[in-house]
Amino acid sequence: MKIPKRIQPLVDDGLVDEVKSQLMSGKEASVYIVRCGETIRCAKVYKEISQRSFKKAAAYREGRKVRNSRRARAMEKGSGFGRDQQEKVWQNAEVDALYKLAAAGVRVPQPFGCFDGVLLMELVTDDEGYVAPRLNDVLMSEEQAIEDHLVMMSYVVKMLCVGLIHGDLSEFNVLVDEYGPVIIDLPQAVDASANNNAEWMLTRDINNIRDYYAQFAPQLAQTEYAKEIWSLFEKGELKPDSELSGTYQEVETAADIDIIMQEIDAARAAELERRERAKEASEGIDDSKFNWSES
Ligand SMILES: Nc1ncnc2c1ncn2[C@@H]1O[C@H](COP(=O)(O)OP(=O)(O)OP(=O)(O)O)[C@@H](O)[C@H]1O
Ligand SMILES: [Mg+2]
Repeated sequence: MKIPKRIQPLVDDGLVDEVKSQLMSGKEASVYIVRCGETIRCAKVYKEISQRSFKKAAAYREGRKVRNSRRARAMEKGSGFGRDQQEKVWQNAEVDALYKLAAAGVRVPQPFGCFDGVLLMELVTDDEGYVAPRLNDVLMSEEQAIEDHLVMMSYVVKMLCVGLIHGDLSEFNVLVDEYGPVIIDLPQAVDASANNNAEWMLTRDINNIRDYYAQFAPQLAQTEYAKEIWSLFEKGELKPDSELSGTYQEVETAADIDIIMQEIDAARAAELERRERAKEASEGIDDSKFNWSES
């Protein structure tokens, strides 16, 4: 096909040899199948900031670090230069996340860099070489659903262990190849420790995935992975290979309240006694107890 304008610089630089076809054009990007030498790859072209639906951008951006202070100030001011910088941070967030996650053992498309707002990555395919389907188009047995759900939970844990939350995880952002689920679409990945919305974003991600697999394995609907994983993470006890049960023990508030009530009662009794003694002391200084004659 005719080379799209945004991919032309990559062709000029010898990174891409041919654009085969357009896979889709979404809200935030257009995705193409390209040929780089002998290999077929995927090119994701980010839309310009003005064409994107940026509904919750601020919630996602929170905690994202910008080391260069001129850049950070410009981004806050929202100047032309600032918007440009914000755009670069947004575009690089996905490729950075892909490298980080691949290294952490999470299955994502292998990245080959981001150039002028075009992300080059592995094209995920099925066993016949066709573009892999999205999870929402895949039906499966109960057994398979339980197995893949567990794999996805282990990916969420591994992500969190390198400080990331997907932020838009659902059956629409997971591809399925012959080895299992592959996570895609990460430009909004959230910094788990620096973002105040981290807990609800993680919970939403986990529950979307749970609800999808629960269609095939209804027992999954009762699981509490979000609470379990978040509570381990908060305590600093989450490890990439943490064994999870999918259950969560609410803190035993009844027992705690009993102890607190006992302590309040004891403190109240002690205070009453102290007041009683103070009263006795001020009212009843009993002169007879002193033997004035002796002094
Ligand atoms: N590496 C890949 N291999 C195969 N297909 C891919 C790959 N990356 C993306 N796709 C396909 O392109 C679609 C859009 O990609 P992605 O989700 O990253 O972009 P998006 O602009 O956020 O789209 P949407 O708004 O639909 O979520 C995916 O649903 C998937 O079908
Ligand atoms: Mg998507």
